[in-house]
Parts: sequence; C-alpha cells; structure tokens
Amino acid sequence: MIMLFDTHTHVNDDKLYEDRKEVISRALQNSVKVILNTGDNFASLERIKKLTEEFPGICYSVFGIHPSFCKEYDAKKLSTYISENINSVLAVGEIGLDYFYEVSEEEKILQKEVFISEIMLAKRYQLPIVVHSRSADEDTFVILNEYAKNMKVDLHCFSGSVEMAERYIKNIPNIMFGIGGVLTFNNAKRLVDVVKKVPLKHLLLETDAPYLSPSPYRGKINEPKSIKIIAEKLSEILGLEFSEIEKATTLNARRFFNL
Ligand code: NI
Repeated sequence: MIMLFDTHTHVNDDKLYEDRKEVISRALQNSVKVILNTGDNFASLERIKKLTEEFPGICYSVFGIHPSFCKEYDAKKLSTYISENINSVLAVGEIGLDYFYEVSEEEKILQKEVFISEIMLAKRYQLPIVVHSRSADEDTFVILNEYAKNMKVDLHCFSGSVEMAERYIKNIPNIMFGIGGVLTFNNAKRLVDVVKKVPLKHLLLETDAPYLSPSPYRGKINEPKSIKIIAEKLSEILGLEFSEIEKATTLNARRFFNL
C-alpha cells in the first residue's frame, strides 16, 4: 500500500476548510494518508484541533504562532493549547522569522523573542519544531544554532542554497528540509541542486496548501493530494523508483514526528 505524508499544510485555511471532506478524500485517493495541519495564529489552532478530531489517524496538529502574528503571541496560552492536546500535537510550528514585507527594527526584535520563546516551549514538551524563514536566513540560522542545536528542526519550504543546507547539517544533526511544489517550477534550479546534494534522509515532503501548487497547477488552490506530484518529481530528479521515494520520505516523517 502506498503511503505518503503531507508534513506541512493548512486544510484549516478558508480556501479548503469548507470542502474539507472532499479535500481529505482526494488526498486519500492519491495515497496521502497523513496530513499535518500547521498553525499560524490562535484562531487557526481551533480549526486544526477540530480537523484532528474529525479525521482521527489522518489529521494531526502542529501548534504554533507564525512570525507575522507575533503581536498576538502569548506563551501561556500556547502552552495550554499544547498541553491540553498533547496526544495529537506532533510539533510546534510554524514558528520563525519573516522579513519579506517591510518590518521595523522593533518588530524584528519581537519576532526573535517570540521565536526563541516558542523554541523553549517545544523543548519543554520535547516536541520537534517546524520553522518558517523568509528573507531572514542569517538570523534564523543564528537563533537555531544557539537554541535548537540538539532538537529536531524542520525548515519548512526550504529555499536556501546547497551551502546553507550543508551548514545546517553540520551544526544541527537532526535538521530536515521541507520540499514542496516549488521543486516542480521551471525556475527551481537552486532547490533541484539542494535535493541532489542533501542526503535523502534529511528530506520531508510538504504542500503548504492552499499555497504553492505544483506545476502545471501553479497559481491554483493547492491541496494535500499534490504530495504525489512532488514525490514523482523528486523520483525523476534523483533517478530513483517512486516506491523508494515513498518509503524514504514516509520513514523520515514517522521518525521526525514520532508517529
Ligand atoms: Ni505554511
């Protein structure tokens, strides 16, 4: 039986939530048997919790506050969310830094404080972290290297260079790189180089749905079922059988998320 994991997605998003039954059923038809819905603000955690209750054994929760929502961060509140759902929360995420849009120095400082606080929370619950880093490569590395050296770290939607990936592997042994629809884009040369150089044991598959639809559906609403397309592309790039990609990435996800 083919089994694929979507290690980072947002079925809780308005674009997918209404049709969640169909979305999940299309995922299952495409061999995507495990779906990790990932938090960004407190409202999202409520829906993610509901999805996990509604689709037991398929949907799991990743709870955290995204850097773009750092102003609503409340360590105590997040800690309560995690402890009350500890059996279905597999990681803390997505957490990190996002300097893509105009961000003041003051907000950068707040983002860093929140990021460190969420890392500490994950440590306390012995959970892996799922990291979002956009236009903030160096600051993200510095914080992870200082506070998360011995943790399981998933760099979701990895967009860095081969050198950056190697630097992470050297410093944070349990580092994983989240690979999604970008791999299928025409201009994905950098990411193609990364998946060729980085050992397969460091790769996780993710859709980040409803965003980042793989080619030829680029720009359309993405769904967890797209993991199959991403896995096919990876198998083509690496010259490996689809079944090898499936087995390796599923094992990686099970090991990383303790599932
Ligand atoms: Ni995401």
